[in-house]
Amino acid sequence: MTHESTPDTSMPVRSRSRLIVGNWKMYKTIDQALSFLDKIIPLAKDVDCKVWLSVPFTAIKPCADKAKDSKVVIGAQNMNDAAEGAFTGEVAASMLHDAGASFVIVGHSERRKIFSETNAFINRKVKRALASKLTPLLCIGETFEEHEGQHTKEVLKKQLVECLDGISKEEFDGKVVVAYEPVWAIGTGKAATPEIVEQVHLFCRSVFTEIFGKEAAEKVLLLYGGSVTPDNANGFLLQENVDGLLIGSCSLSSESFAKILKLRHNVIF
Ligand code: PGA
Repeated sequence: MTHESTPDTSMPVRSRSRLIVGNWKMYKTIDQALSFLDKIIPLAKDVDCKVWLSVPFTAIKPCADKAKDSKVVIGAQNMNDAAEGAFTGEVAASMLHDAGASFVIVGHSERRKIFSETNAFINRKVKRALASKLTPLLCIGETFEEHEGQHTKEVLKKQLVECLDGISKEEFDGKVVVAYEPVWAIGTGKAATPEIVEQVHLFCRSVFTEIFGKEAAEKVLLLYGGSVTPDNANGFLLQENVDGLLIGSCSLSSESFAKILKLRHNVIF
């Protein structure tokens, strides 16, 4: 059961802000993107979470122009690691920033699997994004076989250590967002349980403590993604270490995305 946002001053407020991100993947023309924003921009004013949308390259500039002065933040879904160069078909971080993107997804499992992206390549993208004033939203996650074989923790640790290699505490602190997206839960309708996600997020926070120290580890926003719907979203949001959600298919409809935005976000239950 979901409950909608109502101000309640008796509840303690979360120390980390809540962030809800839509990932549109390869969907929506510019017109479709703009009419989605017509519905979401007015609603976003009144919700107690941050609202980010990761849109196709072609929609970044029109969406960023429309969302200017609103609470909706526009980002990209991918970038190249090089500053510029003869890389036909690729897009540089500085170009995304120039078009109005504020963040960029890196390391999504679809890119790791379909486009053979490695942790080393993703690491270079994280560094380039940070240097180009874009917030990297780093995705990590284990496959079904790794999950079944109980290798989740070692897989995630390797992804975190290798994707964040060479990044200083100062560069990381409050400037990188991480999404745990088990590969077996993405687009399958089989979300992880809130309890599994909370355990994994606690583990990730311990890895951040090892690398960057406790203070930075406490600050990093950790999102869950994988078959999130308006019906199961609240179960994740009840977990102390789930700071938000990365939503694929249910972010394509403004109605279902709006239902998730309107949940109560800013309090500790
Ligand atoms: P899904 O996708 O919500 O459709 O499972 C999540 C994602 O790929 O980020």
